[in-house]
Amino acid sequence: MRDIPFVDPYLDDREMNAVIEVMKSHYLVEGKHSRDFERKFSEFTGAKHSIICNNGTAALHLALESLDIPPGGEVITTPFTFIATSNSILFGGLVPKFVDVDSETWNLDPHLVESAITEKTKAIMPVHIFGLAADMKHLREIAEKYDLHLIEDAAQGFGARIDGKHVGSFGDVATFSMYATKNLISGEGGVVTTNNDEIADKLDSLKNHGRTIEGGYKHVRVGFNYRLTDMQGAVASVQMDKAEEILSQRKVNVEFYRSVVDDIDGLEYQKVPAGFDHGNYIFALDTRKIGTKPSEAVDSFKANHVLARPIYNKLSYEQENFKAINDWRWAKVIDYPDYTKVKCPVSEEISRNHFEIPVVPSLNNEEREKVAQTIRKVFT
Ligand SMILES: Cc1ncc(COP(=O)(O)O)c(C=O)c1O
Repeated sequence: MRDIPFVDPYLDDREMNAVIEVMKSHYLVEGKHSRDFERKFSEFTGAKHSIICNNGTAALHLALESLDIPPGGEVITTPFTFIATSNSILFGGLVPKFVDVDSETWNLDPHLVESAITEKTKAIMPVHIFGLAADMKHLREIAEKYDLHLIEDAAQGFGARIDGKHVGSFGDVATFSMYATKNLISGEGGVVTTNNDEIADKLDSLKNHGRTIEGGYKHVRVGFNYRLTDMQGAVASVQMDKAEEILSQRKVNVEFYRSVVDDIDGLEYQKVPAGFDHGNYIFALDTRKIGTKPSEAVDSFKANHVLARPIYNKLSYEQENFKAINDWRWAKVIDYPDYTKVKCPVSEEISRNHFEIPVVPSLNNEEREKVAQTIRKVFT
C-alpha cells in the first residue's frame, strides 16, 4: 500500500487533453477555457460574477483593492489561517486586526468581532477555515450595522454551504484558491466572486494592468498582471465538471472518520453547525481534551504509513513578519499595533492541538480503513 497522502491532485486524461488542446490552439492566456470556467464557477457557487486570476493571494489583493479602502484602515480577521490572509491586508497599507475564533467551529467569533470594531475599522475578512463557512449571516448583520465591507477569504471554501447556499456571495466580494492542494485545482490559480457589477468591472480591470474591456493600451487605473494561463484555465474548467465527484468523495472519507472519532472519548474535530455543509478541504483531529501531543501523534501516523501533518501551529500574529511589523515599508507612514501583545487564547489552544489526516478523493476503502485503524491505534 502507498503512504496515504494528504495531497493528491484528482487528475486524469481529461485535464491533460484539455491542456494539450490549449497548446495546440496557440491561445495561451485566458481564452475560451478560462471563460468557460468562470461561467461554470458562477453556476456552481451562485455568485453573479467569477473572475479568474493567477492565485488565491492575488485574488485577495484584488478584492481588497477593488474596495478602495484608504491606507491605515483596519480589517478584522482571524489569526488561525494561512499567512496570505493577513499579508494581503498589509499589501495596500491596511492594518490587520486579529480577533479570536469560536472554540467549536474554529472560525471568527462574531461576538468578538463586534466588540473589536473601532472608528478605524473598514472591513471584516473571515476565512472559511478548512472548508467550513464562517458565520456569514451574523457577520453580514454586523457589517451592515457598522457600514463595513465584508470580504470572504474562501481560499479553502470550495464546497462550503450555509442553508444550501454556496460561499462566495455572502460578502461584497470573495476569493478562492485553486492551488494544487485545494478541493478544486489548476496548479496555481484563484477566483474572485461578487454579485456587484461595478466591483466585477473593476476586478477585471485591476487584474489586467488597469485596462478596460476594450483591451489594448489604454489604462484607466493602476493595475496588476494577475492573469492566468489558459492551460490552467482549462484544468480548472475540467475540474468544475468533476466538482460533485471530488466533493462527494471527500465527504465519504470525512463522514467515515467522524464516526470513528465519535467512539473515542476526548478526541474531537471541528463542529459543523446545523444548516452548514462542510467542504471537507481539511479534516483535523482536535487533541485539546485528550491531551496527546500532535507532534507525537503525527509521528505515529507516519510510522503507520498515514501522512498526517500539523498545519497552523503558529498563528499569523506569532509569525516573524508580524512581530517585526516595523520593518515593513508601510510602517514608515502607518502606526501598526504591537502584534507581540495580541492574544487570541482560543486560537492559540487550537493551533497547538490539532493536525490533519488525509481526506484526498483518491482514497480507496482499504486506505480509508487503514486511516481509521490508525486513529484507533494512536488514541485508544
Ligand atoms: C486561507 C487562505 N487564504 C489565502 C490563500 C492563498 O492562496 P494561494 O496559495 O493560491 O495564493 C490560501 C492558500 O493556501 C489559504 O489557505
